[in-house]
Order: sequence, then C-alpha cells, then structure tokens
Amino acid sequence: MPVTCVYGMQWGDEGKGRIVDLLAAESDFVVRYQGGANAGHTVIVGEEKYVLHLLPSGAIQPATINVIGNGVVVDPWVLIEEIDELAGRGISLDGRLLISDRAHVVLPHHKTMDQALEALRGADALGTTSRGIGPAYGDKFRRAGMRVADLLKPHRYEDLLQANTGAWNAILDKAGLDPIDVASVIEETRAVGERLRPYAADVTTILLEAWKAGRPILAEGAQGFGLDVDHGSYPFVTSSTTGPAGVSAGTGLPPRALDRVVGIVKAYTTRVGAGPFPTKDTGPAGVHLAKAGHEFGATTGRPRDCGWFDAVLARRAAFTQGATSVCLMKLDCLSGMDEIKLCTAYELDGVRVDAPPAWAGDWERCEPVYESFAGWTEDIGGARRFEDLPATAQTYVRRIQEILETPVEVISVGAERERFIPLVEGIPVGV
Ligand code: IMP
Repeated sequence: MPVTCVYGMQWGDEGKGRIVDLLAAESDFVVRYQGGANAGHTVIVGEEKYVLHLLPSGAIQPATINVIGNGVVVDPWVLIEEIDELAGRGISLDGRLLISDRAHVVLPHHKTMDQALEALRGADALGTTSRGIGPAYGDKFRRAGMRVADLLKPHRYEDLLQANTGAWNAILDKAGLDPIDVASVIEETRAVGERLRPYAADVTTILLEAWKAGRPILAEGAQGFGLDVDHGSYPFVTSSTTGPAGVSAGTGLPPRALDRVVGIVKAYTTRVGAGPFPTKDTGPAGVHLAKAGHEFGATTGRPRDCGWFDAVLARRAAFTQGATSVCLMKLDCLSGMDEIKLCTAYELDGVRVDAPPAWAGDWERCEPVYESFAGWTEDIGGARRFEDLPATAQTYVRRIQEILETPVEVISVGAERERFIPLVEGIPVGV
C-alpha cells in the first residue's frame, strides 16, 4: 500500500487517531503534515488511553517510524513532554521519530499572542486552542518564522529572533504591553533545541526514498475540513490546509504520490470553538450525543457542541478533497435515539443551498433541511459485519454512503481498537 492520507471531514474530532492507529499497523511511516499541538488524537489500546498532540499516532505502534513534516508548527516543549511521557509508559521513540528541519517552531510569545489576539477580538473571538498556532503560521507566511533548523544553530538564532520579533514588539509597544524578552526566549529554547537535535532531519529526502521504494506511508491529517483555512468557515478556522491538499506542501512528497484518501466522519457532528454550526442541537438529542460520545476536547477539555450529520459540509469535504473512501465513526453513540436526522441541504433566506456559503454570517443563518430516520435501541458494540446492525442503522448508513458518493470502508461501533466493522469495498448496494 503506497501513500494514504487520512483527514477529517467535519470540524475536527472525528476519530482520526483511531483509524490512523489501525492503518499504522500496515505502514512503515506515519507523517503529520500540518497543524500543531492544537490537535488531540486519542488512541485506546486495551486499558491504556493515549492522547497525542504533536506525535503522529503511529507512535503507539512498536515498529512505525513517525515523521513530523515541514508543514507542522512544532511546540518543542509539548513534543518533549510527549516523548518523555511515552518513554515513562514503556514506549521508546529512539530511532523512530524524525522532525523536519524545515518545520516552524511555536515559541512562548506565539502562545501569548494567540491569547492577546483572542482578547482583542472580544465577542468575535475564534475560540482558539491557545496553542500559538495562528501567530506561528502568521510568522511563517510573513517570512519571519523560526524553524527547527534555526534552533539547531544557536550562534545565528539570537540575531534572527531579534529581527523576527521586531514587528511583534512594535505592536506590543503600541498596546502598552511588555515586549518579548528575546534573551529569555533564547535561554528557554537552548535546552529544548538540544533535546530535538537527534530527531531533526531532511525528512523530505527520507520520505521520497521510501515512496520510490514502494514503502507504505500514512499521512495523518489534524483538525478537519470545516476548519481548513481555505475551505472552512473562515475566519472560524485553523491556520493550515487540513486535507490531502496539504500533504505535498507539508511533506515534500509530490501530489501524484497520494493514491488513497480516507475521509473520517462521525455519524453526527460536533464543533468546539466559535463559528457556524447549522445542525447544532441544543435539546435532548444534543445532550444525548455529548454524553454518549464523551464530547470533550482532547486538547482543551472544552465541551463540544453536538448536532446532526451535516451532509452539506461532508459532501463538500468528500468532493473537493477526492476521498476514495469514508470511515463512519461512533455509530454506536446514536443507539437509543427515537429519531435520527440527517441534513441534506440548507435553506438561506428561503433559497435552497447545497454548498457552504462563503460568509460565516450566512452559514450561521442557514436552516438545515432534514431527512428523518427511525432510530434503534440495540447496543451495536458487538457488530462486526454490516448485517449485524439493526435494519434502521443499515438504512441510515446506506443513505450517508449514497449522499457522499463514496464507499464507506469502516464503521466504528465503540472506542476500543477491535470495535469496528470493516467493509473495504463499501456497503454493497441493495444489502
Ligand atoms: P487554533 O487552531 O488553535 O488556532 O483554533 C482555531 C479553531 O480550530 C478553534 O475553533 C479551535 O477550537 C479549532 N480547533 C483547532 N484544533 C482542533 C482540533 O484538533 N479539534 C477540534 N477543533 C480544533
């Protein structure tokens, strides 16, 4: 199996870590290509639960090589904490972790700026994870970022940091705030730079060689399509290209290397942070989903808003990103609901809308057009074949596959590693 990309089709938290964990077993490399420590990928193995923010989810597999690509913004402190935590639990990353020397670094002032910019936005705050993501990517794109390669050259680092923080300090000065103390940033980063040195490499060369040799590579997306900086609910988005379109830019593998694109979607929708969410349910259904799905942010612990499956968003995520298959997650969380709703279109000012509007304010005002499905009461955690599901659940899943025009490859029916229905070719029509 050559290069596969796994990406989120909603507003993040679709359960990507779970599927990456399954696919990592067949992959030589697992590569993060965008985002940073704003991600929280949960993998459950037996009684053990692992939440990874920066390390690729292949970290839990004993033999997988884990790569942090150039498109990621790396918070060295979070990364070192994760490496040490896994080591403490008996999982060593020695010889199994590579960090691109071209990846940008999240420094303490990026986190301060993230919070300060949110405070300035007041009622229009984006609800960021406060992990410094926007300011670090902002520095990257205004060509004033600090990269892993810079961290490894302490003699050049000071001058560069002075130059690159100049604009921030001018803003801080205007706002009457303390400037960034470059000397203390240097002091703080020296030790972490040395800790990362053994892992730093030109990972693009390594990945290109692996690809040419036909070795299986898995690209692990973070966040989701609704948070994509170009296609999501701008400005209520993250600062990166979340889907397979980001793989080439964020790793150096050519676009034609990608031949399998697996979209991950929950059987309902959740969102954390601000922004449009037309299918949000604030009644008993939303409460049921939050409880059944344990919908709390893995990174921030914030409760996630919950609602019905939004096919307008998911269809756009499937079509624009070229999903070759879909994994439908957390179907078991719908058990016990009398009625299940599926949004197939929006209505905006009395007009039917089949694609997300450009302006977040319009998206916010969209009224969902729902199809209604009968629910089921059975516990489906033990289902391992499509036929094991109640007929009503089969009807619901078949309809999702039909709307997305993409085969459903996996249905997850519980958090544990083995709780899923593998379908491979999708659900046969007429089953
Ligand atoms: P940032 O990525 O921290 O700048 O946050 C921007 C938006 O993306 C906020 O609404 C966050 O809640 C959301 N976000 C960022 N990362 C994740 C994630 O991994 N899961 C879900 N939402 C996320």
